[in-house]
Amino acid sequence: MAAGIDDIAIYIPRLYIDAADFAKARGLDPEKLQKGLGVSQMAIVDTNQDPACLAANACLQIMQKNKLSPEDIGRLYVSTESSFDESKAMNSYVIGMLEQVYGQGAFEHCGGVETKFACVSGSYALYDNTNWIRAGEAEGKHALVVVSDIAKYDMGSSGEMTQGAGAVVMLLNDEPRLLSFDPKVTATSIKDEYDFYRPFGKETPIVHGQYSNLLYMIQVRKALETYKKKAISSGLMKLEPGETILDHMDYLNMHLPYSNMGKKALAYLVRHEWRQLPRWKKIIQEIGIQEPIPKDPRGTIESVLGDEEFMAKDHEFTKAFTKTREFQEIYEAKLASSLVASKMIGNLYTASLYLGFRSCLEFEYQKGIDLNGKRFGFGSYGSGSSAMVFSGTIQPQYEEIVKNMNLEAELAPRRRLTLDEYETLHENKLSPEESILRTKREFILVDVNTTTESRGERRYIFNE
Ligand code: COA
Repeated sequence: MAAGIDDIAIYIPRLYIDAADFAKARGLDPEKLQKGLGVSQMAIVDTNQDPACLAANACLQIMQKNKLSPEDIGRLYVSTESSFDESKAMNSYVIGMLEQVYGQGAFEHCGGVETKFACVSGSYALYDNTNWIRAGEAEGKHALVVVSDIAKYDMGSSGEMTQGAGAVVMLLNDEPRLLSFDPKVTATSIKDEYDFYRPFGKETPIVHGQYSNLLYMIQVRKALETYKKKAISSGLMKLEPGETILDHMDYLNMHLPYSNMGKKALAYLVRHEWRQLPRWKKIIQEIGIQEPIPKDPRGTIESVLGDEEFMAKDHEFTKAFTKTREFQEIYEAKLASSLVASKMIGNLYTASLYLGFRSCLEFEYQKGIDLNGKRFGFGSYGSGSSAMVFSGTIQPQYEEIVKNMNLEAELAPRRRLTLDEYETLHENKLSPEESILRTKREFILVDVNTTTESRGERRYIFNE
């Protein structure tokens, strides 16, 4: 049975900080953000928004657009790493908000949980809900999977330049107009790691940025190896001599903590795949330097990162490799369009991979490319750590969804924050009623209870 993404919608907060303003305030070269990381603007939440609001706003949008009633929805999952309660699941808050519009008890029949595994949990939620549909358990109902996050780092930390916020919701069913997931190829890798984590009660994560970058690429590569075996054994792909699995994917969507990480990860995977192929000889000749090897090739991530000579040479090699015609071709054709939205919005943790997918659809369609039948490969990564590689093909009715996508218009009424405003928001100095914007027809947070008996209870309204 087919199962996959029927429609996709996004909700991005209306406030942002510009990379140039941020760089100036922190004494950084703006080029580091814009060119080095690929960050131009970072979306920031207002005082009356939390990740549940973002998720509910995205859900309402997709339900209204598709004229769905709560009866049509069998499952609602929320995946996040910005959770604010250790027990009560975020989907319960989202359902509470939606019921303000659809009527109390309207979602009573609807199951679901909040899922957590840093940035990868949305991919697990998609996989589980796809299998719920494939198993015939959905009985004609749809599933909503919402990925919603606020990427917030300590002020003055190196992560602060990779912030952002937003939610992406995907409507899943057995007749998807957009993308049908390839069965029996989804591959995972997992390892107990401390590259990025957020202990109980702490609002911002503890991050080992460079460690995390490398671990992301290693874990995705491992999952890709498993994907490759499954794709071949299931008969989905047949590799001719000299081919790689990546040749059989028309697009590659990567997890994007910042847009250039997509390019870094693609270069890493492509190097790994091409190294065994005849084409590699020509590339090495073109680059003019041999691919460096660490002093201890079987060493740990720490030993590789600590091998300064190797790291410098590898950096030089990667830069040269990414300038080759062969890499440029694969980058432009398979990845570049997925990076556009990330540059304008920033890091969305769980949602960043799917914002990239949404971005790729819109900007490839605008080039006049017929996307019908194109295969998308997904490289999902969550710190802590786990990766997931999977794929799907675009369906004949995709145009119905993609033709109306317009990121510029959806982001248009945005307000550029001053540095003072941004820092005030960052340090949580204002209450919900002191919001910077007065939005209409959106769910907003009104109050968080501070009394002993009801501490943490949240009240939301739909702002008519
Ligand atoms: N002009 C142009 N480019 C510049 C520059 C300048 N003046 N200064 C630095 N750069 C480039 C660097 O060369 C580097 O590019 P490269 O990776 O292609 O070599 C890039 O900008 C980033 O610089 P770097 O020194 O690596 O940044 P950093 O160590 O200060 O911080 C992160 C980068 C991503 C590690 C940090 O922002 C972070 O920890 N983010 C949060 C965690 C995260 O995103 N993890 C990712 C895995 S999920």
